[in-house]
Amino acid sequence: MSPSPGAATTAEFALPILDEGLADRLRARMAEVETALFEHAQSRAAGYVTEAAQHLLAAGGKRFRPLLVLLAAEAGKHPESEDVITAACVVEITHVGSLYHDDVMDEADLRRGADSANTRWDNHVAILTGDFLFAKSSELTALLGADAVRIQAETFTRLVEGQIMETVQPGPDEDALQHYLDVVAGKTGSLIATSARYGARFGGATVEVEEALTAYGEIVGSAFQLSDDILDIASESAESGKTPGTDLREGVATLPVLLALASTDPADARLHELLRADLTDDALHAEALALLRAHPAMDEARAYVVARSQEAKALLDVLPEGPVRTALEDFADVVAVRTA
Ligand code: IPE
Ligand code: IPE
Ligand code: MG
Ligand code: MG
Repeated sequence: MSPSPGAATTAEFALPILDEGLADRLRARMAEVETALFEHAQSRAAGYVTEAAQHLLAAGGKRFRPLLVLLAAEAGKHPESEDVITAACVVEITHVGSLYHDDVMDEADLRRGADSANTRWDNHVAILTGDFLFAKSSELTALLGADAVRIQAETFTRLVEGQIMETVQPGPDEDALQHYLDVVAGKTGSLIATSARYGARFGGATVEVEEALTAYGEIVGSAFQLSDDILDIASESAESGKTPGTDLREGVATLPVLLALASTDPADARLHELLRADLTDDALHAEALALLRAHPAMDEARAYVVARSQEAKALLDVLPEGPVRTALEDFADVVAVRTA
């Protein structure tokens, strides 16, 4: 699949959009979202609050969630509605707020290729800025009506539950893989599902399409997090803008780790030992990361993600064939094989 001349590519969007008309519309709408994001992240009280709140927005990011809102809106009767732009801002601002908090939890130094807020300032600033952004996204959601507020609140509940569940080990009777998949669906699937739902709803899609796109977003969102977890092991900072091996260092068992632990190959004894050890030690951490990078569990994990994205694509049957459906299909593919 090679983009036609003038078509938007991954450099511009988080996915290739081959249809020029659709790419042009999305490009113009994303520019509106971009301006609105910075407006909505302003504090009425103090310049330093604005500075902290705009720090990660200015650092970049893929803008994957607002793009999904705009794309899902294209499946409706009035994708140009102002509410679609508002909804796109709601999901990105919620996401960015969660990144401020996540970097405190993960003690991460680097985010979007910039210093994390906890590094640039401190944990207090990072936590309160995250709170500020959540409050701002709630203010904005109120413009979309009571039902949107309820959906946003339920989404946020699931996101936070996922983040909290990640910090506890699964119970003795609990399946570790299922625990992990529940964490992933909560912390990431929920907001990406809501991105697709908001797009469909405020773009004027039918209830049937809204339901299908919500289910699609939930699976794509989980696949997105699974890919992120693979990249946490496989990619370098220059690509991801984050520090590799953060999950290992924090003792968060992600899919490649769970698959490697399930292996009965005696050659894996050392890796198993390391994965059960405290990996805050730099030398042990580097050894575990190298062994894991070379382990077949990495490809098994990648195959699992591709299968999930195929499942998501099957849900798009409710949409007519055309550029919007193709772009949503490509979106699911890109998530499965992304490198950043
Ligand atoms: C990072 O999300 C956190 C996850 C849920 C995996 P993104 O990968 O969308 O981060 P940005 O927005 O591009 O920085
Ligand atoms: C982040 O998960 C999820 C949320 C922010 C809700 P991760 O901790 O895996 O994401 P990265 O790798 O820091 O982006
Ligand atoms: Mg993190
Ligand atoms: Mg985390």
